[in-house]
Amino acid sequence: MARNYKIATVFGGTGFVGRQIVRELAARGVVVKVATRFPESAYFLKPYGAVGQVVPVACNYADSTSVHEAIKGADFVVNCIGILYERGKKSKFQRMHVDVPAMIAKACADENVEQFVHVSALGCDVGQSNYAKTKLEGEHAVQSNFAKAVILRPSVVFGEDDNFFNMFAELARYVPFLPLIGGGKTKFQPVYVGDVADAAIGALYDYSGKYSGSVYELGGPEVVDFKGVYERLFKYTGRERRLVNLPYCVARFEAAFLSLWPRPLLTRDQVESLKTDNVVAENAKTLADFGINPTSMDTILPGYLSRYRAGGGRFNTQTTA
Ligand SMILES: NC(=O)c1ccc[n+]([C@@H]2O[C@H](COP(=O)([O-])OP(=O)(O)OC[C@H]3O[C@@H](n4cnc5c(N)ncnc54)[C@H](OP(=O)(O)O)[C@@H]3O)[C@@H](O)[C@H]2O)c1
Repeated sequence: MARNYKIATVFGGTGFVGRQIVRELAARGVVVKVATRFPESAYFLKPYGAVGQVVPVACNYADSTSVHEAIKGADFVVNCIGILYERGKKSKFQRMHVDVPAMIAKACADENVEQFVHVSALGCDVGQSNYAKTKLEGEHAVQSNFAKAVILRPSVVFGEDDNFFNMFAELARYVPFLPLIGGGKTKFQPVYVGDVADAAIGALYDYSGKYSGSVYELGGPEVVDFKGVYERLFKYTGRERRLVNLPYCVARFEAAFLSLWPRPLLTRDQVESLKTDNVVAENAKTLADFGINPTSMDTILPGYLSRYRAGGGRFNTQTTA
């Protein structure tokens, strides 16, 4: 008897973007296998569905059989694996952004998966950082193994657990100034994590095939530079800080030290990334093609940045620190 529900495998489902996609899939009654290196780290996702609906599955990326096993039986596959910096032999850009996506895409073809959504990054076609270059190479590897794949390229993603606004808000707690790297002129188009997840869902339930084989650039309704980002931060955390210009050469020098931290605050490759604007291209396919009206930062940021307000969070009326 044919089953009346879908099965999805989400790689990187424990991450910031991945968990939102897991949540949306579970809300649609999909059985979700969360492929992860550490199954116990995915237990927090179980309450997103009914008992047994969200299932952490151990995956060893050194072994293609393990990837096949994670995908076997799935109708949908989503890849949200990505790294911002390299660490050790197993956490290299080439491996995580090219070889592993290629392996997943090939397994999708072998296992006759209905649709595969691969999360890439905005600006990968123009950026000169190793992050960008390997993200682009990864897209090509996915397309050559699974031609129908839908590729999503988000700009900086914001939402309650993001690593962008939260990181700067945390920094602003402890330092009297914040850096404007390269003069802070780089432009971003921050996109809400819920909109990225909705695009992924739209691409998976693509029965007409209209999204198949295409690349989508996902940006929010506003383009901002670093000053614009910090202004939002100050407004919603109430912590105004001095902005200090940090030329690229100085930032590169500082990054050499900051990248030695266990979770680097800044790497040389990230400084390179900041030399290119991160905005949706004029002729690109976008969120609008999924019928999604992008959510503004002002709708979402107050909800989670208020916890950084001095003296006790959202119920405190104090506006400066
Ligand atoms: N967040 C953004 O602003 C943003 C912007 C543009 C593009 N993107 C792209 O969107 C995707 C998701 O980003 P995210 O912010 O959700 O990332 P994230 O929170 O860091 O999660 C990434 C996931 O990748 C897996 N992963 C990390 N290192 C790994 C390694 N060495 N080997 C195998 N798996 C590893 C982890 O899964 P396990 O630990 O469970 O194995 C983790 O859940 C990435 O491809 C990223 O490049 C993100």
